[in-house]
Amino acid sequence: MTLIDQISALRSEIEHEIPTIDSADAAERFRLKHLVKKGTIQSCVEGLRMVPREEKPLVGKALNELRALAEGAFAHAQEQFGKRSSTPHLDLTLPPRGQRRGAVHPITQTVDKLVSIFSSMGFEVAEGPDVEDDTHNFGKLNFAADHPARDMQDTFFIDDEARADLLLRTHTSSVQVRVMENMKPPIRCIMPGRVYRNEAVSARSLAEFHQIEGLYIDKGVSMADLKGTIMAFARRFYDENAEFRFRTSYFPFTEPSCEIDMSCFLCKGDGCRICKHSGWLEICGAGMVHPNVLSACGIDPNEYSGFAFGFGVERVVLMLTGIDDIRLLYDNDIRVLSQF
Ligand code: PHE
Repeated sequence: MTLIDQISALRSEIEHEIPTIDSADAAERFRLKHLVKKGTIQSCVEGLRMVPREEKPLVGKALNELRALAEGAFAHAQEQFGKRSSTPHLDLTLPPRGQRRGAVHPITQTVDKLVSIFSSMGFEVAEGPDVEDDTHNFGKLNFAADHPARDMQDTFFIDDEARADLLLRTHTSSVQVRVMENMKPPIRCIMPGRVYRNEAVSARSLAEFHQIEGLYIDKGVSMADLKGTIMAFARRFYDENAEFRFRTSYFPFTEPSCEIDMSCFLCKGDGCRICKHSGWLEICGAGMVHPNVLSACGIDPNEYSGFAFGFGVERVVLMLTGIDDIRLLYDNDIRVLSQF
């Protein structure tokens, strides 16, 4: 059979088939038979090579017409019946995509761990409002009226004409006051919370961060209890072989006051990046609750004494993780957070 005969046979076959296309599936079968690379029409196109030169235009034209007929029929069927219905849009055999799990933020993880250690030592969690008044944040904590911490540069004041004394608490020591006002000694509380300071945001400081404060009040509480408590905590939380250093310091609400350093848990005192090559890490500020604070809060300083301590949670997270920019903790970048 010559190619031209083959083409006309194929043409009558296709003309017969076209009226039988009655579904998207039938259209797809038609396409697979005639219109794909290994289909009938393409195999005729390949036979064109053997056709004598002078016959080529005629045969070529017949083939082009046939292809146009078949393509037109297929396009028409597609319009009529839509795409092949058996095409699986939903392939239930595909493996599932990995699920992303949320996780507890490293700051919250750290607060939880700190709270659980202090709870096991008998401290209860106490909380107070973020929007405080001057009395609880400063006044009853023995801050003099002209103390620089009350300055606009440190404190965010609330714009409220009726209550000019409202502010965002600058430390969790405000909760110390509330606890003493409301509880009778013995008091053993731990007070985690957010605090706010009007400071420029940088790699080392934020305008909003977290503190945990501790308060212990009873008869005969001394500096030795403070030392024992902090050392027991730090040996559990950071390093069981830690060494300590108590440096004198000043806070209006404690007397005497100190800052407590611990030998670096990473280099054990030799000096490294985390301890800035000093061998020591500052872990908290602390002191014996000032008698003025006790009396302002309704506790008799002749009968009771107590200690308080406080530290910044973000600094703890930076020390433990080695992250060197505090802002990374607040960017909510999954690539950072998913590492903890
Ligand atoms: N409130 C102090 C601060 O914000 C920390 C502190 C708490 C110090 C309790 C001593 C006792 O820096």
